[in-house]
Amino acid sequence: MSSEITIPPIADFHVHVRDGDMMRLVVPTIRQGGVSVAYIMPNLVPPLTTVDDVLNYKERLKDVDPEVNYLMTLYLSPAITPPVIRAAKKAGITGVKCYPHGVTTNSDHGVQSYEPFYPTFAAMEEEDMVLNLHGECPSRDPDIHLLNAEESFLPTLFDIHKRFPKLRIVLEHCTSKAAVEAVLKCGDSVAATITAHHLYLTLDNWAGNSHNFCKPVAKLPSDRQALIEAATSGNKKFFFGSDSAPHPLSAKEKGRNAAAGVYTQSHALAYLAEIFEKAGKLEKLEDFASKFGRTFYRIPEDRSGWLVTLKKEQSVVPMTIGEGVTTVVPFLAGETLHWKIYNNFA
Ligand code: DOR
Ligand code: ZN
Repeated sequence: MSSEITIPPIADFHVHVRDGDMMRLVVPTIRQGGVSVAYIMPNLVPPLTTVDDVLNYKERLKDVDPEVNYLMTLYLSPAITPPVIRAAKKAGITGVKCYPHGVTTNSDHGVQSYEPFYPTFAAMEEEDMVLNLHGECPSRDPDIHLLNAEESFLPTLFDIHKRFPKLRIVLEHCTSKAAVEAVLKCGDSVAATITAHHLYLTLDNWAGNSHNFCKPVAKLPSDRQALIEAATSGNKKFFFGSDSAPHPLSAKEKGRNAAAGVYTQSHALAYLAEIFEKAGKLEKLEDFASKFGRTFYRIPEDRSGWLVTLKKEQSVVPMTIGEGVTTVVPFLAGETLHWKIYNNFA
């Protein structure tokens, strides 16, 4: 088996980098993780609901690292009307992220009902913008819980897809066998991202360990197996979106009130290589981590000359990155990875 792989930098189609000090800490780790294209989430406080908010945020990101290709999104809210969609398209914004109300970090302004947004979805379909769905039903319905929240959302995915068949939709961070099967049933305009951490975790890993707690939660071993099979299958509907979601240590160590989110950015490609190797599918890594997402989003391959080399070397994930109020615990802190990322950029 090969002990060294060199590929152009990969693309991460689901990234949280926050703002302020946290942004300055984590943005430089995008390239460290082997990533040159980062699809940036809009769930800041307050959320990014105007074209200007998004463009200003992009400038702040470029001030930290101008070499990353930041693809930007708006936060779906009543402010996102069809004229805003047309202005967003002109301004180069790629997509709109939909958070159901109350399902995760900073989703208090999220969607309570989809119907009022049909004109917005129609405008997005016309303008060829991407709709990114956080696919969970909120648990205000007494029959919804952490383990069935994603599966319960799938009829909504089918419904939006049926009404807007040409609208490109990404079911973000899918975590269940049911979600994988649903995406396979939809037409080519529907794809899904899969995170690195959901390829490792099941519910036993987050029950009692808030550092592995994220939304949607990791589910059963059979669900994880379905995700590994989808990611390594060579099916272009499944591509990488890390959902790397840094929270300060103080917010993660709050017992039952711990913030949802796992930070994986700095070692993104190394985590993936580990899983793909274990599955005997290293040859499919570049398709999943780079090519399929770029094809769906129509982003050309990176020809800048920057190359990423993965070497079969042991390295220990640091216990923390950052300091003080922005101390962040990376995924698998203190554990040994068997692949190490080397970048040739200056
Ligand atoms: O675990 C999560 N954290 N899931 C999300 O959907 C949001 C993210 C965050 O922003 O922290
Ligand atoms: Zn996210």
